[in-house]
Amino acid sequence: MVETRDDPQRGAATQAGAVRRRVIGGRPVGAIGLGAMPMSLEGRPDRAQAIRTIRAALDAGITLIDTADAYSTGCADIGHNERLVAEALRSHGTGKEEALVATKGGHVRPGDGSWLLDGRPEHLKAACEASLVALAVDVIDLYQLHRPDPAVAFADSVGALAELRDEGKVRLVGLSNVTVQQIEEASEIVAVSSVQNQFSPAFRSSGAEVTYCRERGIAFLAWGPLGGMGAAAALGSAHRAFAEVAHRHGVSPQRVALAWTLAHGDVVIPIPGASRPVTIVDSARAAELFLDDDDLAMLGMAA
Ligand SMILES: NC(=O)c1ccc[n+]([C@@H]2O[C@H](COP(=O)([O-])OP(=O)(O)OC[C@H]3O[C@@H](n4cnc5c(N)ncnc54)[C@H](OP(=O)(O)O)[C@@H]3O)[C@@H](O)[C@H]2O)c1
Repeated sequence: MVETRDDPQRGAATQAGAVRRRVIGGRPVGAIGLGAMPMSLEGRPDRAQAIRTIRAALDAGITLIDTADAYSTGCADIGHNERLVAEALRSHGTGKEEALVATKGGHVRPGDGSWLLDGRPEHLKAACEASLVALAVDVIDLYQLHRPDPAVAFADSVGALAELRDEGKVRLVGLSNVTVQQIEEASEIVAVSSVQNQFSPAFRSSGAEVTYCRERGIAFLAWGPLGGMGAAAALGSAHRAFAEVAHRHGVSPQRVALAWTLAHGDVVIPIPGASRPVTIVDSARAAELFLDDDDLAMLGMAA
């Protein structure tokens, strides 16, 4: 459900002990996930900082980490991000049941900064095998089709994920960058546990997918929830309003943006990116920030 006027948790900015929780395919997770991508692309931090950032997320109560085989600088270090996540979880002592790791297949990085698509079943199956190795697990918690490949029948790509699940290599199946029609088509083939689309105060065009997921209890992972930069300016034309609400509650505008996203329903899980502990620790606390009706009206979201 959307957080409503009747929600007892609404009406106060931060209520003692009130922390939102979410569920993905029956598995409980915190309401804020970590988007690990910035730790593996061009301009990434050194390995030690990346590990500190992931560990800080775990310490802050984050139990969902979003990664992908393609989060790398190119084919030479494909799986870079997944290996970082595996190393951080191991060194932190976090057990496989304590954090849900969501990875993706279907994008390839030739090494020139571009992102190409390969949604062929044979590629997805090989990519999944490589992700199992990079993540050092026997089964992947949540495997997402990164993006539909127009050169491949969508049903064939989804069919590959269904087979991976039937083979026990993948526990849950998710989709990313899809339309309502594609979610419906995929649901005929396999149980879809999550949808990951771009959604933020500055990018609201996935509203139809949010509504669809909310009505069916499918987890909606909001990628780029801070507009990709985390800067207040990336909050779009409502920038000033976010700054004002943030000032009112004594929190960062980024935390307000994440709380705004969370207010779209109890299936919504923002996955803010981070490459520094301080940013993910701040973002994690959005799970306990509840915006009131005045706040939401000011931010352009009527209750
Ligand atoms: N499925 C897809 O096609 C797709 C596409 C893009 C992204 N994603 C996923 O979505 C995640 C998030 O997207 P994104 O990383 O592009 O963008 P984002 O979450 O909108 O912004 C990330 C940036 O915001 C900064 N930040 C985070 N929390 C902050 C805070 N509380 N205060 C100030 N700055 C803050 C971080 O800075 P620092 O780096 O300085 O910590 C980070 O670089 C990715 O990591 C990835 O997992 C998926």
